[in-house]
Amino acid sequence: MNKWVWLCPSFAIGLVAAVFTLWGLTWWSALLAALLLVCPALLLWGLAVTRRYPEAANEPTPETRGMVMNWQAPFYDWGCRAVGLGRNFRDATLRHAALSSGEQVLDVGCGTGVLTRLAAEAASLSGHAVGIDPAPRMIGVARENAARTGSQAKFKLAAIERLPFDDSSFDVVLSSMMLHHLPPDLKHDGLAEVYRVLKPGGRLVAVDIDRPANPLWWLLVWPLLLMPATAANMRGEIPDHLRAAGFDPVQVKGRWVQWLTFWVASKGDKS
Ligand SMILES: C[S@@+](CC[C@H](N)C(=O)[O-])C[C@H]1O[C@@H](n2cnc3c(N)ncnc32)[C@H](O)[C@@H]1O
Repeated sequence: MNKWVWLCPSFAIGLVAAVFTLWGLTWWSALLAALLLVCPALLLWGLAVTRRYPEAANEPTPETRGMVMNWQAPFYDWGCRAVGLGRNFRDATLRHAALSSGEQVLDVGCGTGVLTRLAAEAASLSGHAVGIDPAPRMIGVARENAARTGSQAKFKLAAIERLPFDDSSFDVVLSSMMLHHLPPDLKHDGLAEVYRVLKPGGRLVAVDIDRPANPLWWLLVWPLLLMPATAANMRGEIPDHLRAAGFDPVQVKGRWVQWLTFWVASKGDKS
């Protein structure tokens, strides 16, 4: 879906409202009638699209207490672009990751795999990138997109708190917008798993919600304090979780629109 897709429902609502106005309805009742007509039609269309998308078939769905995003998969990339998490955001994440050709990369909570595919390109030749997510539809869409674009990225159904990989398997782990999907105890268990699968000297590059940098952002996003998973992020506790998992040093590398932070956390020295 491209960034202008929102024009279609708006156009449909406008057109139906115009027809009703020509029939003699006042503009506000025409608009109401158009909304009542078009919105259910859009809902049905959305359900049809969701059903058409593939699931990761014949694989057990991992149990997790994380906030799994499944039905959102067909619309997810469009939603990201709509809220400013499009290509520039992905490029910024990869800049902080500074991947080199030949590195083995894991993307935890990969969603539709946009970042995983870009990482696979950056680590090309002898390197590889694998994305994991417990949502069957996310993994289904990720695999379909990888096949369509000829990407070498691979995708697995799995949860961060039980990573199906040997110790010291990866040079880099990416975590983009997923830590706020985990309640505090799962943040702890998940980051311990990430630490385990990283090679000595490896790095975790995480971008996620952090304590808002100014009062205006607090006004906008304070409801996130009501959920334990997001509240820990809002209170600025991600660095504590990273250090508790064994990462040292933990560095802040930059901010994205005042409320997301990029961290690079290392598993000790390479030497
Ligand atoms: C906001 S999305 C981020 C997706 C992608 N990383 C991105 O940057 O667009 C968060 C993802 O975390 C996944 N998730 C939830 N619980 C998880 C868990 N326990 N382990 C791994 N991923 C999880 C969700 O299913 C969802 O796809």
